[in-house]
Amino acid sequence: MRREIFRAGRGEALALLRRAPTVHLATTTPEGAPVLRALDAAVLEDGVWFHGARAGEKARCLGRAAVVSAEELVAHLPSWMADPVRACPATTLYRSVQAHGTLEELTDSARKAEVLSALMARWQPEGRYRPLRADDPLYAGELRGILVLGVRLGEALDGKWKLLQNRTPEQIGAALEGLWARGAPGDVAAIEAVRAANPHAPEPSFLAAGIPGVRLQVALGEADAPAVRALLAGEYWWEGEPLALAGPSHLASTAWVGARDADGALVASARAMADPRHAWIYDVVVAPAWRGRGLGKRLVALLLDHPAVRRTRFVRLVTADAQGLYARFGFVDAAGKRRFGTSTEMVLVRDPPAGADAGAP
Ligand SMILES: CC(C)(COP(=O)(O)OP(=O)(O)OC[C@H]1O[C@@H](n2cnc3c(N)ncnc32)[C@H](O)[C@@H]1OP(=O)(O)O)[C@@H](O)C(=O)NCCC(=O)NCCS
Repeated sequence: MRREIFRAGRGEALALLRRAPTVHLATTTPEGAPVLRALDAAVLEDGVWFHGARAGEKARCLGRAAVVSAEELVAHLPSWMADPVRACPATTLYRSVQAHGTLEELTDSARKAEVLSALMARWQPEGRYRPLRADDPLYAGELRGILVLGVRLGEALDGKWKLLQNRTPEQIGAALEGLWARGAPGDVAAIEAVRAANPHAPEPSFLAAGIPGVRLQVALGEADAPAVRALLAGEYWWEGEPLALAGPSHLASTAWVGARDADGALVASARAMADPRHAWIYDVVVAPAWRGRGLGKRLVALLLDHPAVRRTRFVRLVTADAQGLYARFGFVDAAGKRRFGTSTEMVLVRDPPAGADAGAP
């Protein structure tokens, strides 16, 4: 890699290889013809392994130099986010990983079973098959016959995270503002990826928490599921409900924002399900120790300005007692003051976006 600032740690590079839907294998035949394949891979600690047929083309490439790669698009950044005139700042943010080595065969039946078991665990997590074991007569013949090959992961595991690490703090700030304003699918996740790669870049105004020691976040993910479940445990609208659904509900949401304390712990969270016309806000919660300092208001403001929510004509929610929190944003009792148990439905009605009918299907 030309520039060290882009280098990702080995753990991150391995994680990308593991979550990639397929990995690419590039190698050559003994005649020197190029070979490129997209393959299901078992990424184990010592290597990236595939299976194939002995009569196949890959088998002919054993012993030859090979490269395994995987990549993830984060966002395309248009030039105008950095410069109003020049085209040159247009760039692509991405993560990529490459492992260079030699294509080798695994001949030990126990190792072959380990590779095939890893593939089954990933692509058939529901099980419903007899575990693959080398000493099981059911599989012994097939394990002998199948070709398992791959590239060993030595030191040469090259992870490249291209996330604006080469830009000035001002340029990074402008890109974050630009991504937030554009709000295309994936842009909020791109904002968090750029922030994680540039921890010392100053916060742009839309991310200002205004509360010392608090950092707002516009996209949360799987790693936050246990924390949000803990935040919601005991809140009245989850009483008698299976809390195991809290994480999956948040992960399925069109918008999920939150706030972290100085140690990175999740201390507030809010989410919305939205289509272009309607949004529903759910699960607005601030950790007890952080209540009464303006975090709830800041989080609701951030959620209403989230790209998935900011243009919806109706935003609805149900609350038992926090009407005052939402009234300040223009929410009113929903038509007819319908009541759900002790909860009241509230609605925020906004003007349709200008030109909403233009070009609609
Ligand atoms: C409701 C909650 C999210 C508010 O967060 P917070 O950080 O404590 O709130 P803020 O400091 O930003 O202030 C909220 C504002 O709304 C007002 N408010 C109205 N009803 C409220 C309520 N039930 N709880 C808290 N604030 C309420 C507050 O008085 C305050 O107004 P003020 O600034 O004029 O004094 C938080 O108290 C919480 O998590 N409560 C338990 C979960 C809950 O009830 N969630 C709402 C479900 S819809």
